[in-house]
Amino acid sequence: PARPLIDRFGRRISYVRISVTDRCDFRCVYCMAEDMTFLPKKDVLSFEEIEAIAGAFIARGTTKIRLTGGEPLVRRDIIDLVRTLGQRIGQGLDELTLTTNGSQLRKHTQGLFDAGVRRLNVSLDTLDERRFRDITRRGRIADVLDGIDAAQDAGLAIKINMVAMRGVNDDEIEPMMAWAHGRGMGLTLIEGMPLGEVGIDRVDSYLPLRELHDRLARRYTLTRLDKQTGGPARYSHVAETGGVLGFITPMSHNFCESCNRVRLTATGQLFLCLGQEDQVNLRDALRDGGLPALDAAMDHAMAIKPKGHDFVIDRSRPSPALGRHMSVTGG
Ligand code: GTP
Ligand code: 5AD
Ligand code: SF4
Repeated sequence: PARPLIDRFGRRISYVRISVTDRCDFRCVYCMAEDMTFLPKKDVLSFEEIEAIAGAFIARGTTKIRLTGGEPLVRRDIIDLVRTLGQRIGQGLDELTLTTNGSQLRKHTQGLFDAGVRRLNVSLDTLDERRFRDITRRGRIADVLDGIDAAQDAGLAIKINMVAMRGVNDDEIEPMMAWAHGRGMGLTLIEGMPLGEVGIDRVDSYLPLRELHDRLARRYTLTRLDKQTGGPARYSHVAETGGVLGFITPMSHNFCESCNRVRLTATGQLFLCLGQEDQVNLRDALRDGGLPALDAAMDHAMAIKPKGHDFVIDRSRPSPALGRHMSVTGG
């Protein structure tokens, strides 16, 4: 690209996560409050605006786009957007993918595949029906499992994302791994991050993945892989299951120094870090000044992208007030 996006710490930005809606049909305890007020639809970017912004990023070296939410598949006509963005695959864009809760997956799998999507991350924290209901507050696990079946049948590669929580699902790590790997899916474990007031105790439920890694390493033969997806996970191969296990450790092992990503919210704010407030309003730039203004706003973003997050999980030291739920930026 003519002018690649490089921030003031020399990090090259090549991955954009786009939240297409702040809405979701679940209310996961670590992500949303029970009672959420969603954005008025008029504040949400149109598909044309998302396409313009995505195009501007691709022109400046973005090779990977991930659609998130909220839940991306609850946005009306979402496949139309996926199809348009999918036309950029092979023309600057290497990968177009989604992170989804899976509830609406069955009816969208063929559309996703036909648009060029080949890989999906599905969030699933438990295999137990009751527990699933407790964690998501309103999800039905059968819908998710059915969506995963459909997606695999359609030829989509699936990675399961599991937020590991002490006292909630830490007894299910091994069964989840056996299940996912047995079906040819990767499993990635994520440390819970303190974002938004959500009514669960972040300190009690925090499970450092180092501890979990050591527990698993006693029972399984883990070999570190140098697999690079452009995301933050570090991957290991598990000899006994033949599958791939990923670890995302924002709390215990910060990976900010190799950060390659930015996040666009549903209203067109570009968040420069998941754990900081620094942002640039791309919607206003585009609406007021068109593509030149958008380009200038992207340059400004590179000048203010912070060094990293400063999440802490410590009872005596409250995490820097983050009044923002994860569903705003889509993780
Ligand atoms: P792959 O393409 O499969 O590597 O996916 P990914 O890890 O980039 O995307 P995914 O949506 O699966 O991300 C999983 C989770 O990792 C996110 O929901 C966040 O919780 C966390 N995560 C991703 N990027 C960052 C980041 O830049 N900072 C922090 N703190 N957490 C991140
Ligand atoms: N900490 C860590 N991961 C979270 N997710 C949502 N909220 C949090 C949190 N507070 C995960 C979801 C999903 C991804 C988009 O982000 O489980 O896999
Ligand atoms: Fe919805 Fe995902 Fe948040 Fe759960 S984690 S409430 S599925 S957006």
